[in-house]
Amino acid sequence: MSASLSPRPHLPAARPAFARWLGTTNDVTQTFLSAAGVPGLISMAGGLPAPELYPAGELAALARQVVADHPAETLGYGPVAGLPDLRDAIARRFATAHLRLGRENVLVTSGGMQGLDLVGKVLVERGGLIAGQAPTYLGALDAWRPREPTFRNLDLEAQDFDAHAALSGACFAYAVPNFSNPTGRLVGMSVRQALVDAAHETGTWLVEDDPYGQLHYDAEPLPRMIELSARDWDGPGYGGPVVYMGTLSKELAPGLRVGWVVAAPEMIAALTAAKQGSDMCTSGITQRIALEALEGGLVDRAQPAIVRLYRERRDALCAALEEHLAQWFTWEAPVGGMFVWAVARDAGLDTDRLLPLAMEAGVCIAPSSVFDPMGQDRRAMRLNFTLNPPERLVEGVRRLASAVRRAGLRA
Ligand SMILES: Cc1ncc(COP(=O)(O)O)c(C=O)c1O
Repeated sequence: MSASLSPRPHLPAARPAFARWLGTTNDVTQTFLSAAGVPGLISMAGGLPAPELYPAGELAALARQVVADHPAETLGYGPVAGLPDLRDAIARRFATAHLRLGRENVLVTSGGMQGLDLVGKVLVERGGLIAGQAPTYLGALDAWRPREPTFRNLDLEAQDFDAHAALSGACFAYAVPNFSNPTGRLVGMSVRQALVDAAHETGTWLVEDDPYGQLHYDAEPLPRMIELSARDWDGPGYGGPVVYMGTLSKELAPGLRVGWVVAAPEMIAALTAAKQGSDMCTSGITQRIALEALEGGLVDRAQPAIVRLYRERRDALCAALEEHLAQWFTWEAPVGGMFVWAVARDAGLDTDRLLPLAMEAGVCIAPSSVFDPMGQDRRAMRLNFTLNPPERLVEGVRRLASAVRRAGLRA
């Protein structure tokens, strides 16, 4: 044995290091993500679909069929940007008279989450500025954290919201205009148009994240920002600043991990380069299943049952809140999406501190601090209504009310 391989017990072992950004994550997120595994606990913290809605029989049959019919495509490595047929199908699905799309406008991603990750990789230098709708989707903040960005929080409901100033100097702007995560709110037409105009004027990429657009209970979703942007675009195909992201996670099944980005070809090329170093390609099996589900109508057929069930659950949660929590919180019944955003009447309430009491009472909520890049918003909580049936939602709210009482909060 050579001398260099012999053990040297007298030297302290050098400790391998982790990257600095890991120290900037917060443990509140860990607490509520692990809550789903605690027996008996009612979790209203996550953004999970109702599993009974997954069309398991149809998807199992499709899985068998696509592997049998397309063994090379489903079991081999595929093109980084996605299966050409699926890219074409997505282009057809989102094209309108103004929004002229081809395959070059589409990237297939491993869930919507990957689109967010890749955007951070291709647009943000270390410390770069991200202008994001506030409060912001927690997963997006997680995806961008390794870039160590700085944030500008945008209040899209402020009377004096100035889109031009909001976007100026940012690497990109980010919004979830349809039934946002975490608030469930719809961004109005005038603000959508203002954001699009400002993106064109300032030359800023505008990321439109839209997992919830089809989950609308009382009103139709408003026009997509990419569509508004295309009305001002007169090239042969779309080449504007909006980077539109979608996913099958909320409309079909998150386990497929199939999402997409629709954007200018130069953006698709950049994201494709980043995806190559990330996962090489999205699973061919689930891409083929996604293609069959989109083209064969399974996705569209699934929608009415999803809307019916979630509307009923939203109503059950809001009624329970009215009965048990109205003394302490205010909220607006969301017209779509998966969440109610409840804001404490008492500005002194800290939902980070409420979380452990709620967990002791057997219910889990997502406190507002995790949706604020600065971690300073402590006054609100996000409650999911899609995962649990009405009776569990009611019981969850009862438990939450007992936790609030224990916290000794002032009405
Ligand atoms: C706003 C938003 N964007 C993106 C995603 C990512 O979803 P997925 O990666 O499952 O497609 C989610 C999931 O909850 C979300 O709420």
